[in-house]
Amino acid sequence: MNKKPLILGIETSCDETAASIVSENEWGEPKILSNIVSSQVDVHKEFGGVVPELAARSHLEKIDLIVKKAIEESGKKIEDVDAIASTAGPGLVVCLSVGLSFAKALSVSLDKPFISVNHLEGHALSPKLNTKLNFPYLLLLISGGHSQFLSVENFGKYKRLGTTIDDALGEAFDKTAKLLGIDFPGGPQIEILAKKGNPNKFDLPKPIINKGGCNLSFAGLKTAILRISKKIKTQKDKFDLAASFQKTIEEILYKKTKIAFEEFEKKLKPKKKVFVVAGGVASNKKIRSILTNLCKEENYENIFPPIELCGDNAAMIALVGLEKFKQKKFDSLDFPTLPRWQLDEDAKFLKGAGVKI
Ligand code: KG4
Ligand code: ZN
Repeated sequence: MNKKPLILGIETSCDETAASIVSENEWGEPKILSNIVSSQVDVHKEFGGVVPELAARSHLEKIDLIVKKAIEESGKKIEDVDAIASTAGPGLVVCLSVGLSFAKALSVSLDKPFISVNHLEGHALSPKLNTKLNFPYLLLLISGGHSQFLSVENFGKYKRLGTTIDDALGEAFDKTAKLLGIDFPGGPQIEILAKKGNPNKFDLPKPIINKGGCNLSFAGLKTAILRISKKIKTQKDKFDLAASFQKTIEEILYKKTKIAFEEFEKKLKPKKKVFVVAGGVASNKKIRSILTNLCKEENYENIFPPIELCGDNAAMIALVGLEKFKQKKFDSLDFPTLPRWQLDEDAKFLKGAGVKI
């Protein structure tokens, strides 16, 4: 029997130090042998957001240990690894450099190929880690750094249908939480507080809801929250604002996803309609439920990666590495960090919004 490829994935693009070993099962499907994620929440808590230099230092301190743990848990030896894949972007340049340099050094010392990975490609393919999923599908990627609709047409073939013209959705959750006095990262806490409040108490704006196709915008919403948060007095007001924010996001995503469905169908004419939601914010149960309902109405199959694969992890990086390894797509050691690396290189213009990115 042929030896199955064994890929070490490394992820340090923001505030998670992660390493994973991914291989294949007997049917050629990806198989996670280990998946270690070390979060830096405690490092950044007191600053209310990620401090790049502190994040990079923390990656440096932990990367060695996290990679060792990933190897150990996989039951394999470092010498068994066939290639080392690492996130090269997008992300914080000082953080990306740590994982990338570590991966390159390992590649030299083990004499095994080095593979650079786009973090967004990891999120885009992450559901393949535990679900049989054929191309094409529509992806909504909602994380702390990105919010976009992409048609995923094949490995390496992605088209951006819409994106945020200002803040990412996770950022909007975290900023709202900060204004309500909740520790970073407040996204998950907002979801909990929202359950205790009245979602109809505050009428919040839904920026570009009726224009810009399936592009998104959250900056105006944040400004409105800032204004209201200065006036709130009681704990009840706080719950009501969290609930109103959560409800507004649900309405924005419902409407914009419906538009994205139309664009996806028009462009791809898919035989089967499949919708995947990935990224940290995809852990939000209310968002999951509202989008699941929309999929039922519109006859889409709906796929969410399990919660532990929604947020940043290295299994999704190793997965992209595995595919590139099979295609013999290796990179040279001068591959740079690409802090603004887009998946769809053509999408320089945001349709309808008139903004160049
Ligand atoms: O994908 P991720 O782990 O990292 C990035 O690539 O950014 O996403 C992190 C983001 C944070 O903004 C966090 O507040 C948000 O995902 N998040 C949530 C929830 N869980 C994580 N936002 C809303 N509701 C949640 N349950
Ligand atoms: Zn991410």
